[in-house]
Amino acid sequence: IDPKRRQMLEAHELLQKLYHHLLLHTKEGEPALKYLRGRGFTDEAIEKFGIGYALPAWDFAANMLQKRGFPLSVLEESGLVIRNEKDGKYFDRFRDRIMFPIMDEKGNMVAFAGRAVRKQEHPKYLNSPETPLFNKSKLLFNLNRARGPIRKKQQAVIFEGYADVISADRAGVENGIATMGTSITPEHVRMIKRLTDGVVICYDSDQAGLTAAFRAGKMLSENGCEVRVAQMPDGLDPDDYINQHGGEKFRMDVIGASLTFMAFKMQYFRMNKNLQNEGEKLAYIEEVIQEIAKLENPVEKDLYLRQLSEEFSLSLDALKEQERQYGSRET
Ligand code: GTP
Ligand code: MN
Ligand code: MN
Ligand code: MN
Ligand code: MN
Repeated sequence: IDPKRRQMLEAHELLQKLYHHLLLHTKEGEPALKYLRGRGFTDEAIEKFGIGYALPAWDFAANMLQKRGFPLSVLEESGLVIRNEKDGKYFDRFRDRIMFPIMDEKGNMVAFAGRAVRKQEHPKYLNSPETPLFNKSKLLFNLNRARGPIRKKQQAVIFEGYADVISADRAGVENGIATMGTSITPEHVRMIKRLTDGVVICYDSDQAGLTAAFRAGKMLSENGCEVRVAQMPDGLDPDDYINQHGGEKFRMDVIGASLTFMAFKMQYFRMNKNLQNEGEKLAYIEEVIQEIAKLENPVEKDLYLRQLSEEFSLSLDALKEQERQYGSRET
């Protein structure tokens, strides 16, 4: 291992321990700790995920790490400190934030996500920049812990946010992972596929979450994953849901009752349509048949064609004929 890389990793580890200590055992950390507890973070979760707090100081990390022999240039390259162009001085990237350590697949500490303690603070989350240690398009939050459970259950659950992963873990869903606030990439898909083909998408229940679920589901299923999509009441995210309804209901009614990707798409296509309108109804039926044509399993095809036929009182033969035409056009 390259000595600079080792230094960068050590700086993260050291800082994480310190942030964690500051959160739990100092006066300055109290508001952040209170905030986390108020949101349902348990002491076990704070411990397990190594959550911490960065002081509102400009040079706390820079000073502490420099005193321990880490060159400022290395700290800058690792994303922990920033160099002021004007006076050449270094200052901390993370100040007055709740710190979530980010580990790579092997459990190396490679980055931080810092959450604002107060609502009005922007941005809400501040992440480490891309560094030699950290590439967010190749990192899935919690994969180091979730790998075993994913293999065992042959299922991965993908969330939007860190808080969702952490609450789900507390709710007994230990096979949860999240992207770093970005859409899922082909590299993420490859990482998941090394462990399992079964994926449940459990994004926020808002327009952005639904659209992201549609896109992610498409990429995953095109790469041979068996995709399901979990549903929650409007406006909630998984963390909210678990806090309101508990872990048992989350496992049964959200993860356990997730829709097949096809069923999700049928809902998604009709969301902003008025099916009383003839034209929109036909457009919807077309969209669904095109998706059915992409299915490989003939039993599934039959199931969804029958659903369409019943819902819109259309002849099954006509729908099958249409589906065959789309199917042959594709190849
Ligand atoms: P909480 O409010 O702490 O529960 O966060 P959340 O995870 O519910 O946030 P949200 O649904 O708004 O966003 C989902 C994910 O997008 C977050 O976990 C982050 O990874 C990312 N994200 C959200 N806001 C920001 C931001 O301001 N900056 C960056 N870089 N990422 C963000
Ligand atoms: Mn501890
Ligand atoms: Mn969201
Ligand atoms: Mn959310
Ligand atoms: Mn949330």
